[in-house]
Amino acid sequence: MSDNRKAQIEISKEEFRKVGYKLIDDISEFIDTIDKRQVTKNDSLKKLRNLLGEGTLPENGKPVDELIANATNLLFRHSLFNGHPKFLGYITSSAAPIGALADLLAATVNANVGAHILSPIATEIERQTIKWLAEFIGVSSSYGGILVSGGNMANFTAFLAARTAKAPKLIKEKGIDNVSEKLVVYCSKTTHTWVEKAAILFGLGTESIRWIQTDATNKMDNAVLEETVKEDVKNGCKPIMIVGTAGDVSTGVVDNLKGIATICKTYDIWFHIDGAYGVPASVIPELEKLFHGIKEADSIALDPHKWLYNPLEVGCTLVKNPQYLIDTFSSHPEYYNFTNNEEDLTQNYYEFGFQNSRGFRALKVWLTLQQVGRSGYVKMISEDIELAELLFELAKSHPELEAITHNLSIVTLRYIPLDITNLDKKKEDYINQLNEAILNELQKGGEVFLSNAIVKEKYCLRGCIVNFRTSKKDIEEIIEIIVRIGKATHLKFNKKLI
Ligand SMILES: Cc1ncc(COP(=O)(O)O)c(C=O)c1O
Repeated sequence: MSDNRKAQIEISKEEFRKVGYKLIDDISEFIDTIDKRQVTKNDSLKKLRNLLGEGTLPENGKPVDELIANATNLLFRHSLFNGHPKFLGYITSSAAPIGALADLLAATVNANVGAHILSPIATEIERQTIKWLAEFIGVSSSYGGILVSGGNMANFTAFLAARTAKAPKLIKEKGIDNVSEKLVVYCSKTTHTWVEKAAILFGLGTESIRWIQTDATNKMDNAVLEETVKEDVKNGCKPIMIVGTAGDVSTGVVDNLKGIATICKTYDIWFHIDGAYGVPASVIPELEKLFHGIKEADSIALDPHKWLYNPLEVGCTLVKNPQYLIDTFSSHPEYYNFTNNEEDLTQNYYEFGFQNSRGFRALKVWLTLQQVGRSGYVKMISEDIELAELLFELAKSHPELEAITHNLSIVTLRYIPLDITNLDKKKEDYINQLNEAILNELQKGGEVFLSNAIVKEKYCLRGCIVNFRTSKKDIEEIIEIIVRIGKATHLKFNKKLI
């Protein structure tokens, strides 16, 4: 080895500039023309695999400019663009461009935000970001928490804090098998699948979940909830957590949070809010009432990579008393020298959650919050909701569409051909199959991307607008596309089925 080591993986300043400038040029062009592209090309698996080839692991290296040019080409030509104005699928937002710059900068510094000593300014930025997120959604800024990879992880983190707070303390040493009472958790039937994963992963088992029915408006029925809690207590179970959803994944409904908070208080149960999607809407003054009770939550999950328009991945767990996170996750192995700071106010994030080494995902959230401020978010989120209203109203007034639900920025609707009237069971089955087929056609077509929801046994097309690029014109065109594809699919389908 020479005195001045020159590793092959290093890139010279000149080359980094050259390749980096070209990449930034290509990215700017991509962002500027995203609306002119197809949402997705729906390439076949065969085509995608052919593009990559069957080559084995390269033995030797290749030039950086060639590799970056090739990757740019592949990604810009063969991706699904959730940043497209007509992408309304699932709950994935258009990504704030400043987030791309933030991720580049964060990866460059490569702060390990597991320990303060390894990431001094990054840790403080994460701390400030979490404080701002609490302020943003209108809870006390004394809530603490941690940024995680997304909604599942944010809810898992809170689930474990709840278990620490409300289950017998011996779990930590003896394991869940040694708890004599059955631990139970409560949530509405429409709760996202994370709750099942959590029950399995954290030892409670899926039978510990009490799936509470919803009322006519799709909110958790709090009267049934309270009855179920009472029954469980009578039968010797130990209720540890109730999950209220603020913006359910299928229809965007916000549960009656205040009512849940009262039940939690009465029976000494942890109150968790899954606000992964919807809780940012609480920033809109007119919607404050809808989120009444949020301040009483013991924990809240929210996802900056959903309605705060941050690039994947970033979720957040907020906990009213963050000590429960430390009690759950902290450990002090002898090989860590992380507690020798003169101030005990420093924070080591490895003690607040699952991860040990952690990336600097806070930077993009911190910068986006400053780029647009609270007022910018109020405007963008209100506009998304207005566009959802427009989609719902246009569907309602269209003779071939049935508008089913509208809450926050989620709309469900379905296509009903003009020649099908007086819906009976058989016709309902057909409409369900037809709409499923329409959804598949729409997703393959690449003009628009919607997803689906089953609402009271109806298979619906579902649009979720967490997209600052979507405009009124897009919504009008989406209606036309749905009806055009609906007609064509019915024509094709009808011959086979009726
Ligand atoms: C209400 C709700 N909770 C949790 C999640 C899971 O979030 P993630 O996909 O980021 O893990 C979602 C995802 O859509 C959601 O809508």
